[in-house]
Amino acid sequence: MTGRAATVPPPLGLLAELTHRCPLGCPYCSNPVALEHRADELDTATWTRVFREAAGLGVLQLHLSGGEPALRRDLVEIVAAARAAGLYTNLITSAVGLDARRLAALAAAGLDHVQISVQDSDRDAADHVARRPGAFARKAALAREAVALGLPLTLNCVIHRGNIGRIPEMVALAAALGAGRIEIAHVQYHGWALANRAALMPRRGQVDAAEREIAILRDRHRGDLVIDAVMPDHFSGVPKPCLGGWGRRSLVVTPSGLVLPCHAAPTIPGLAFWSVRDHALESIWRESPAFAAFRGTEWMREPCASCPKRERDFGGCRCQAFALTGDARATDPACALSPDHGLVAALAAAAEDGPWRWRTDRPATVDARRS
Ligand code: SF4
Ligand code: FES
Repeated sequence: MTGRAATVPPPLGLLAELTHRCPLGCPYCSNPVALEHRADELDTATWTRVFREAAGLGVLQLHLSGGEPALRRDLVEIVAAARAAGLYTNLITSAVGLDARRLAALAAAGLDHVQISVQDSDRDAADHVARRPGAFARKAALAREAVALGLPLTLNCVIHRGNIGRIPEMVALAAALGAGRIEIAHVQYHGWALANRAALMPRRGQVDAAEREIAILRDRHRGDLVIDAVMPDHFSGVPKPCLGGWGRRSLVVTPSGLVLPCHAAPTIPGLAFWSVRDHALESIWRESPAFAAFRGTEWMREPCASCPKRERDFGGCRCQAFALTGDARATDPACALSPDHGLVAALAAAAEDGPWRWRTDRPATVDARRS
């Protein structure tokens, strides 16, 4: 290990994408267009080793995600292995395919927290987005089952032009279901979602109104419901410190075992991702070139390189910088100081009503006018 690699601080969180399979078909899915196949998924024993290595590296929180992690038949064993490794374990689920009995088995195996994605506060609109009749009802039922088991619950709502006006209703839903936290997060335009960007992008007035509402809702729910919100960065001129900085706090393991600094990192050409099948997690974190590529600030160009905010936002999102400028070392165009800032304004201006491309061939559930 080089001297520099030895001084890399440990990550706090690991996102384990247990499978890319999913029973829903949301148009805003940020998973890659080419999904990894079931036959290539890591087995239980390998995930168990990865969890032990993660805990040894210093990881505290494990997020079990997908696709839909409940499609893994060994999910209870996976949770038990995470608990045995000493990790705080959060299940991120669509709730579809997870019944009360299995949730109880997960709780008994040591699951610490459940996060349920909800497409909308309106049942028909939610099922329409998920393209799955009955999905909303299953989500609400699982939320109640989680609370009854004493599991802390977070509701996660992805917002876009079609539902950003219903944030108060989403917050009310979270409170009614007994959640302790709601995450309201704007679409990440990676993977499948890119094809729907113009149709999903909210308008500036909608974002301004949403921000005012969230401030009021936070005041109203202080002490009973935590409201986290990630608004689009296309209007503010302020880039997001994506993941708290590349290779700084977290890592992602894909279903087949590739280890990524962020789940969209494979969109940046030229990065080679090491696999847990070939390397120990600590060696990947500290020594793999993909993690070193944008760690810290030395890779930066101007205006980031001399900017007083460079240790705060780390130049924004590398994947967005590449997607918009073709140069992953460029300042994220979301920043008002970026010479490419006009590109995000153009994207926001290009928002237009149009049909969504769902991530499934299942037929529509309700009136397509809702999209
Ligand atoms: Fe952040 Fe770079 Fe913009 Fe400075 S110039 S605020 S470091 S993105
Ligand atoms: Fe990859 Fe932001 S999504 S760095």
